[in-house]
Amino acid sequence: MQPRRRKLGRFKLSQGKIYNLEKNKKILVTSALPYANGPLHIGHIAGAYLPADIYVRYNRLKGNDVVYICGSDEHGVAITIRAEQDGVKPTDIIDRFHELNKKSFVRFGISFDNYSRTSRPVHHETAKEFFKDIYDKNILKKKKEKQFYDENASMFLPDRYVEGTCPVCKNQGARGDQCEKCGSDLDQTELINPISKLTGETPVLKETSHWYFPLGDFQGKLKDYLDRHPEWKENVRNYCYGWLKQGLRDRAVTRDLSWGIPVPLDGADGKVIYVWFEAVLGYISATKEWAKQVGQPDRWKDYWQNPECKLVNFIGKDNIVFHAVMFPAILMAKGDYILPENVPANEFLNLEGQKISTSRNFAIWLDDYLDRFPPDPLRYMLAANAPENKDSDFSWKDFQTRNNSELVGILGNFVNRSMTFLAKNFDNTVPPATDLDEMDRELLKRIATAPQSVSDALEKFEVRRALKAFMDVARDANKYFNDKEPWHMVKTDKVKCGVTMNMCIQISRTLAILMVPFMPYSAEKLWKLLNLNGDAAGQNWATAGEPKVAAGHKLNPPEILFTKIEDGVIEAEMARLNDSQKKPESDGKKEKTGKSNLISFDEFKNVDLRIAKVLSAEKVEKADKLLRLEVEVGEEKRQIIAGLAQKFSAEDLVGKRVVIVANLKPAKIRGLESQGMLLAAEDANGEMSLVTVENEIATGAKVK
Ligand code: MF3
Ligand code: ZN
Repeated sequence: MQPRRRKLGRFKLSQGKIYNLEKNKKILVTSALPYANGPLHIGHIAGAYLPADIYVRYNRLKGNDVVYICGSDEHGVAITIRAEQDGVKPTDIIDRFHELNKKSFVRFGISFDNYSRTSRPVHHETAKEFFKDIYDKNILKKKKEKQFYDENASMFLPDRYVEGTCPVCKNQGARGDQCEKCGSDLDQTELINPISKLTGETPVLKETSHWYFPLGDFQGKLKDYLDRHPEWKENVRNYCYGWLKQGLRDRAVTRDLSWGIPVPLDGADGKVIYVWFEAVLGYISATKEWAKQVGQPDRWKDYWQNPECKLVNFIGKDNIVFHAVMFPAILMAKGDYILPENVPANEFLNLEGQKISTSRNFAIWLDDYLDRFPPDPLRYMLAANAPENKDSDFSWKDFQTRNNSELVGILGNFVNRSMTFLAKNFDNTVPPATDLDEMDRELLKRIATAPQSVSDALEKFEVRRALKAFMDVARDANKYFNDKEPWHMVKTDKVKCGVTMNMCIQISRTLAILMVPFMPYSAEKLWKLLNLNGDAAGQNWATAGEPKVAAGHKLNPPEILFTKIEDGVIEAEMARLNDSQKKPESDGKKEKTGKSNLISFDEFKNVDLRIAKVLSAEKVEKADKLLRLEVEVGEEKRQIIAGLAQKFSAEDLVGKRVVIVANLKPAKIRGLESQGMLLAAEDANGEMSLVTVENEIATGAKVK
């Protein structure tokens, strides 16, 4: 016991230390590990990933020794529920979404040093080691308790397997572990009207035993820890003090589940470690994996076990209790590890004034976005509008305005007008800055202080303010250009005009470097246009404000940095959002997650597709699009009214074997009952083709 105490003491001292900002610092940055049970949407990105990536890229430019860690969270009930809904194995789900999400992050420019997964052996070992160590120190308590059990499914129902009404805010869809609406951290048995997600039945209480982590025993230490961090964001501190005030309760850290990391104790068969106990340790195992990848397997200790290293966990607000209370307590219990130095948590991002909902498919999916737009305008929008202190809203209209009036109109405009002017009048070559006047000197002062103004905000994780400080440089640059009126000067005093244009290129270089954290792709594009050596991300933040481009330097031909987004494009996005939205489910049992193009096997099975033979076809009177078809489906004859008259004639159809949806609700069309729907393909040009079959298969045969 003694040595451990001393170590903790030493850690405490070092946690209170003020770091020397000028030194090359070790910084370990993490973003919450997303569940690998669905694709990523802009809400995820705005909360835990983009702000972290901006912070990381900035620190790399400062020359700090940063490691940025993330990965898939692959255990727990979020995964098994999704697998059950889809009728597949958990590994099918996690393999698919791990790969997909990993790729989407890369496409969006989120620059993890390692994107691991909690199903890897290194993670299982790390989690078991922590669990066992804390158990061996007699910290965990074993308790017998009654827990919800589904008699029809013969299974205990941990966490989200039970839903009900939140005892705090009365939200009806509260989950067994947490109410998403009010953020309360719940115990299942507190739910009003608990319902099993598996069967929709009311669960019964049944005895089982679990190991508990005594959070209450850490209350004092956690309070000291929190008191040592007055610089944390107010939302995080408020939540934490709120929990401390309620008094921290013991938390079960095992579950009766088959999917997860087995509890490494005798007599714990059929039990796994609670996902929130192990997922946070994923940061450590992912760092171990990274160290191996870079060929220095012990290097993870330079971060996790080095009191000089600064650990920063970026998360969304629903994760605060786990990162700012649970995780530090686990690390304290283990000893010898650093604690989070900061836990910048963001609030939520809404979409067009409503809550983003994966179950209703009301979201902008990252991958979908990237199929149609470049990453940087979204990075810009989400940073400018980050839900830092309160929930914020994404609307397509704002996105268009930000893109067109700020990126195109201010930043892009300055670079473009400078470069086209130089191409036209100075043969793409930077003229000398001979005699500076007062305005030029002011401008140089302005760009000299620009990096610091962005830093000030980023050091406090204030991304919005940082981005504004960056854009203010572009604003001032435009003002300088306007005030100087080089288009007049070029005719009267070309040398003086050359000085102005030299300044404009110096500012463009500064802008390119300062742009890296926010819009890394555009920053590199600008760097190339300026024809400078290396890349923008490889530059030094400290000298970003110095005029380093030499007179006589040849530029590349100008190109546009940002593209205007037309109204039609935005209208199409809004329509898409509206069309893909699902109506809320009435039975409340099933939750669908994922993109509009992802349905469960059950959902697919609900559609009864059959082979049918077209017996006759005729035009419907006074309806130039409609055909009345008679089809044979096994023993049955059916009438189908189809909008095919402009593309097909009776001869094209009669005798063909087609595929129909046989269980579509009958509908009256022009007074005629349509008993099904015929499948046909249509391309973007309106070309149509019937879905037919290769051979004379019996009508009525099921298509599956
Ligand atoms: N998967 C969790 C979520 O999406 C976050 C886990 S963060 C971790 O809410 F650190 F615990 F992994
Ligand atoms: Zn609630």
